[in-house]
Amino acid sequence: MSKNKPRTLTLKCLLCLFFAVLPGFCSVTVNLNGKWSLSNSDGSVFLGAEVPGCVHSALHQAGFIKDPYYRFNDVSYRWIAFDNWTYTTTFTASAQLRANQRVLLVFDGVDTVASIWLNGIVVGKTDNMFRKYDFAVRDLLKDGDNVLKVSLLSPVLYASERRKAHSAYRVPPECPPDVQKGECHVNFIRKEQSSFSWDWGPSFPTMGLWKGVRLEAFDVLQLIRVSSVPLYNLSLSQWRVQVELLVDAVQTTNGQIALSLPELDSERILQTQFLTGKTRNTFTLNINTSTGLLNCSLQRILSAAYKRLKADVFFLLQSSHVKLWWPNGHGEQPSYRLAVRGLQGRVLILEAESKVYFRSVELVQEPVVGSPGLSFYFRVNGKPIFLKGSNWIPAHSFQDRVAPAVLRNLLASAVEANMNALRVWGGGVYEQDLFYSLCDEMGIMVWQDFMFACAMYPTEEDFMQTVREEVAQQVQRLKSHPCIITWSGNNENEAALATDWFNIPASQRPTYLKDYVTLYVDNIRAVVQEEDRSRPFLVSSPTNGAGSEQQGWVASDPYDPHYGDTHFYSYSLDCWDWRTFPRTRFASEYGFQSWPSFSTLKPVSITEDWSYGSNFSSHRQHHQDGNQQMLRQAALHFHLPNSTDPTKTFLDTLYITQVTQAQCVKAQTEFYRRCRSEIIGGKGRTMGALYWQLNDVWPAPSWSSIEFGGKWKMLHYFARDFFAAVLPVGFEDGDALLVYAVSDLSHDLELWAVVSVYSWSSPEPVCTLKSDPVPVPGGSAATVFKRPVAALLGACGSCTRLTCLLTFHLEDSGGQQGPSNHHFLCKPKDARGLQRPNITATVRELEAGYVFSVTLRSASVAAFVWLDAGDVPGRFGSNGFLMVSRSRTVVFIAGRHTGAAELSRSLVVTSLRDVY
Ligand SMILES: *[C@@H]1O[C@H](CO)[C@@H](O)[C@H](O)[C@H]1NC(C)=O
Ligand SMILES: *[C@@H]1O[C@H](CO)[C@@H](O)[C@H](O)[C@H]1NC(C)=O
Ligand SMILES: *[C@@H]1O[C@H](CO)[C@@H](O)[C@H](O)[C@H]1NC(C)=O
Ligand SMILES: *[C@@H]1O[C@H](CO)[C@@H](O)[C@H](O)[C@H]1NC(C)=O
Ligand SMILES: *[C@@H]1O[C@H](CO)[C@@H](O)[C@H](O)[C@H]1NC(C)=O
Ligand SMILES: *[C@@H]1O[C@H](CO)[C@@H](O)[C@H](O)[C@H]1NC(C)=O
Repeated sequence: MSKNKPRTLTLKCLLCLFFAVLPGFCSVTVNLNGKWSLSNSDGSVFLGAEVPGCVHSALHQAGFIKDPYYRFNDVSYRWIAFDNWTYTTTFTASAQLRANQRVLLVFDGVDTVASIWLNGIVVGKTDNMFRKYDFAVRDLLKDGDNVLKVSLLSPVLYASERRKAHSAYRVPPECPPDVQKGECHVNFIRKEQSSFSWDWGPSFPTMGLWKGVRLEAFDVLQLIRVSSVPLYNLSLSQWRVQVELLVDAVQTTNGQIALSLPELDSERILQTQFLTGKTRNTFTLNINTSTGLLNCSLQRILSAAYKRLKADVFFLLQSSHVKLWWPNGHGEQPSYRLAVRGLQGRVLILEAESKVYFRSVELVQEPVVGSPGLSFYFRVNGKPIFLKGSNWIPAHSFQDRVAPAVLRNLLASAVEANMNALRVWGGGVYEQDLFYSLCDEMGIMVWQDFMFACAMYPTEEDFMQTVREEVAQQVQRLKSHPCIITWSGNNENEAALATDWFNIPASQRPTYLKDYVTLYVDNIRAVVQEEDRSRPFLVSSPTNGAGSEQQGWVASDPYDPHYGDTHFYSYSLDCWDWRTFPRTRFASEYGFQSWPSFSTLKPVSITEDWSYGSNFSSHRQHHQDGNQQMLRQAALHFHLPNSTDPTKTFLDTLYITQVTQAQCVKAQTEFYRRCRSEIIGGKGRTMGALYWQLNDVWPAPSWSSIEFGGKWKMLHYFARDFFAAVLPVGFEDGDALLVYAVSDLSHDLELWAVVSVYSWSSPEPVCTLKSDPVPVPGGSAATVFKRPVAALLGACGSCTRLTCLLTFHLEDSGGQQGPSNHHFLCKPKDARGLQRPNITATVRELEAGYVFSVTLRSASVAAFVWLDAGDVPGRFGSNGFLMVSRSRTVVFIAGRHTGAAELSRSLVVTSLRDVY
C-alpha cells in the first residue's frame, strides 16, 4: 500500500533559479510525509499509516480498532503499547539530489524509542519525543527505490528496562495509582508524561512519527533556523534585536549578512564567516528610538494619536517609536518584519523572513512593605500585569488529532474569557508552532514548563545528554515568541521532594536533592540561560523562587505564600469560604472537578452507562474518590438531584457538578483578584490566578473549563465575568458585607457600588443601595462598599438571610462598569421561597443559520440558569446566570449552520430548583 508515490520537492530559495550556474547554494527538500506502511512485531498486523501520525490513529483509521475513547477501550487497547511497531516507506532519490554535498534525513519528531534504517543499514537511533533528529544519508541513497524503516520499541517496555538498569536506587513514583489504569516508570522515557495516564487522562502510550519527515540536500550551507529576541536597554532607552542564525555549513563559508527591519528603518550589513558544521551566528541590530519604552499614559496618548494622524505623519512617529506587544487587555500585538539575506559576492546564499515583536518582561521578586518574603509578579514593558488564565494540557491523547481549528477554538475561548495567560504544563508536550503563533497574535502570555512532572528523574549521562539537546532545541524553536514570558523547569517536583510525596528515607534524601539540582539547575537552567537571557527562568512550580534558591533550590515549604507561586487544592473544605484559600503572591494552580455535558459523553457511552454509579462513571474518573468529592462539595450548598427518573438524575448530576465547580473557582479567583493591592497579616499582593485547567484530553470528568470537543462548561462562562477587566467582588468579613472594585485598566476610575436586595420568592428588588464614589486607581483593588449585613437587611423591610439575596454592580458617570455579580446570604439549599421557575425559551434566528436569540421567560427568581444546546455546537452570550427578572434574552452563536427549529429542539434549560 505504500508504493512509490509522488513526493513533493521544494526549492528553498526561489532565487536559485536565477543563479542556475551556481546551483551550490540551493537547498532541496523532499517531503517524505504521507502514507507509509505499518506492521507490528510478528507481522500479524499490517496496514497503511499516515505520517505525521501514530500507531493508535493508524489502527483506528484502518478499522483495526474502534474509537479508543469509547467506553472501556483505553484498557482494551492496552496491548498496542506493549508491542513493537515498524513504519516503512519507499522513495526515489534523483541523481541530482544525490549529487549534493550533504543530504540529511530529518525527523521533526519521533515518538519515541526507535532505530532508523535506510536501505537495510541503521542510520541512527532516537530516544526523545521532544527532539528533532537528522542523519547524514547521502552515501546510503541509491538509484531507484530507497527503503526507509523506523522500528519503534514499546515505550512501556523501554521504560521498565531503563528502570531495571537503574538498580542503585528507585526513582519514584514507580507506578501511577490504580485508579488511573496507567503504565509504570514514565519518568525514564523522554515522552509526554501524561501518555502513561494522569488523574484527568487515559493511558495511551503513543508510538509513531508525530511530526514531519523529509530529506534536505545542499552543497554549501543551509539555514536551519532564524530566531530573534528583542532586548531593551533601560539606561540607553534603546531596543536591540538579537538575531541568531543556526546554520549547517559543509565547509567554512564567508559571506555578507544583511539584516533589516524595514518598517523601523533599521538595517545592518556585516561580513561573517560560517564555520563548518552546525553553528550559531549571532548579530545585534540596534533600533534607533527617541523615547524607548513608553510609560502607560504616553502609550495610550500615542496610540490614540496614531489613529487620528494622517499616513505620512504616522510613519514619522512610527520610525521613532517602536510599537510594543502587549498582553490581551493591555494593548495591541503589533509585529515587525525582519528580513535576513546572506550574500557571497552577488550570490544569495541564504534568505529568510520572520516576525519581531517588541516587549520586555521581568519577574519582580523584591521586598514588600509590611510583609516578610518577596513579591512575585511579572512586569511587561515596565507595567505590572496581573496574570489571569488557566493551565494548558495536551488537547488530545493523539497529537496528530490536534487540528489547527482545535487550537484556534481553545485559544479564542481563552481570550473570550478575558484571559491573558496560560501555563503550558510540564506533563504534556511542548506545543506545536501554531499554538505559540496564535498566542503571539492573541496576546496570551505563556508560562512554559519543561516537560517534567510530579516525579523524580534519573540523571544518567545519556539521559542528561538527550535532555540538554531537547532543552536547547526547544528554546531555539520558541524564543522568538513574545508570548512566552517565563521558562519553568518542572511541575511540582520541588514540592514533591520538599514535602516528601514518595516516602524517601531521610538518609537517602541528599541523593535525590543532588539529582534535582543536577537536572534542573546545573543542566536545564544552564542550557536555557545560554540560549535565552531575555526571560526569567524558574526552576519549578510551585516554588519560592529566589527564596528556594537561597535554600539550595528546594525550599522547606515551596507553598509558602510569602514567596513565589502556589498550587492549592482542597476538596473537603467549603470552597465558598474565602478564608480557606491561601493569600498567595501568585496562584498558578487551583481548581475543582466537574463532569462534562451529556452531549460530550453520549458518543463514548451507551444507555447502561448513564448513571453516576455505573462502571463507566467510575472508569472515567481517574482521581481517587473524585466522583464522591464532587457530590460532597455540591451537598454543602445544594440539594442533590433526586428525580425518580434515573436518566434525569444522571443529567442533573452532571449539571450540579458544573454549578459546583463554577462557583468554587469563581469564589477562589475573585479572592485572588481582590488581594492584589493588600497586605493582610503579612500576606497578599496576589498578582496571578491561573486555575487548573483549561482543556480536556478526552471526554471525562476533570478540572477543565472546556470539555473535550470544545464545549464550554459553566465555569468557562463564569471565567468571562470573573476575569473581566473591571470586576465587583462581594464577600463577608466579620459582620460586614464588602464590595471591592478590581480594575486591570491602565487609567484611574471613580466608582460606586449599587447593591440590590431581592427576595428568593420574587424577581422585583426589595431595595437598592448606592455607595459614595471611591477612587479606583488603574491596576488595583479597592473597597467601595462596606455595611454590616444586619443593617443592610434591616434597611430592607422583612428580609432575612434565608429569604433574601444580593446583587451588585459598579457604576461611574458613564454607567455600569464591568459585569453584575451576586452574593448569597445563605446556602441555596436553605433558601426560603425559591420555587420551580418553569422557564420557557423562545428561539429566533438573527443572522442566517448562525446567530440566534434565545428569550427566556421565568415565573420566579432562578439560580444557575443553564442553557445547553445539546449536539448543536456554539456559545451563548451568557450562561449559568442568576435570573432576577421575568425575562432575559441571550444570544447564541452556532459553530455550524443550524436553524431555529433544530436549536429549539436541542435546547434544554435547567436551573437549580429543577433538579430536586
Ligand atoms: C519488542 O522488542 C524488544 C527488543 O527487541 C523485545 O525484547 C520484545 O520481545 C519485543 N516485543 C514483542 C512483542 O515482540
Ligand atoms: C541609528 O542612528 C545613528 C545616527 O543617526 C546611525 O548612525 C545608525 O546607523 C542608526 N542605526 C540603525 C540600526 O539604523
Ligand atoms: C509618562 O511620560 C510622560 C512623558 O515623559 C510624563 O509626562 C508622564 O508624567 C509619565 N507618566 C507616568 C505615569 O509616569
Ligand atoms: C461492573 O464491573 C464489574 C467488574 O468488572 C463487573 O463484575 C460488573 O458486572 C459490571 N457491572 C455492570 C453493570 O456492567
Ligand atoms: C411551576 O409549575 C408548577 C407545576 O405546574 C407549579 O406548581 C409552580 O407553582 C410553578 N412555579 C411558579 C413560580 O409559578
Ligand atoms: C428530593 O429532595 C427534596 C429536597 O430535599 C425533597 O423535598 C423531595 O421530596 C425529594 N424528592 C424525592 C422524589 O425524593
